[in-house]
Amino acid sequence: MSVAVETKRVTVPEIRARKNAKPVVCLTCYHAHTARLLDAHVDLMLVGDSLGNVMHGLETTIPVTLDMMIVAGKAVMRGSKHALVVVDMPFGTYEESPQIAFRNAVQVMKETGCQAVKMEGGSRIAETVHYLSERGIPVMSHIGLTPQMFNVFGGFKTQGRTEAEWPAIEADARAVAEAGAFAVVLEGMAEPLAAKITRQIAVPTVGIGASAECDGQILVMEDMLGLNPNPPKFVRQYANLGPMIEDAVKAYAHDVRERRFPGKENVYSMKKTG
Ligand code: KIV
Repeated sequence: MSVAVETKRVTVPEIRARKNAKPVVCLTCYHAHTARLLDAHVDLMLVGDSLGNVMHGLETTIPVTLDMMIVAGKAVMRGSKHALVVVDMPFGTYEESPQIAFRNAVQVMKETGCQAVKMEGGSRIAETVHYLSERGIPVMSHIGLTPQMFNVFGGFKTQGRTEAEWPAIEADARAVAEAGAFAVVLEGMAEPLAAKITRQIAVPTVGIGASAECDGQILVMEDMLGLNPNPPKFVRQYANLGPMIEDAVKAYAHDVRERRFPGKENVYSMKKTG
């Protein structure tokens, strides 16, 4: 029996086929209203664990839980019909073994309806990438600056600034691409290294603070909209919504204090009786 599907989402093979082709447009998204606004304009929405910083005011993504990701994943799926939705696997839910990663990723996919998951790490999780990909869970990899390794790196440090670091990072990219990742996020990486990796691997690279030569780009939506008072240096701001929100709230507060709100248009009329 076939069930009619109203709209067709972008698929994992379609993203995979964008290697050396039309750049893949990606943004993070954590909630339904913004998902609806982004949907027609992006190929891929990432429910990133950066929601820990953006939505919850956390310093790092380390405290983010599977439940936090699932709540946001469901909201983004409800708000969108077109873009491919990828949900991040948070710290501690996939590193221990391929089997544990599989179980947690299955929960994410069943409960949210998303089409893929993302996991940080290169060679050290290549086996897990393979295990999941072989069992119906498409994986987007994430290498370079991996925020879940904050405590190991001692901060958020750009990767590959000396050529001596390059071979290990290139090996990471090759390992996850060969293990079956359908795309690889390159974050916070020296530009020539990101460009080199993009030429070397057979799947699309998606850059964030990396290189314009990547096969696609991703930004944290709140950073590019001007909602983050301290955005990373590489972010181009496409709007400045922070002051607009403040002005709107100021105007509302003024109206309330002056008893100008609600105006007549907002008052429910009385029901006629008798
Ligand atoms: O969590 C996130 O938003 C991410 C992107 C920065 C790639 O992983």
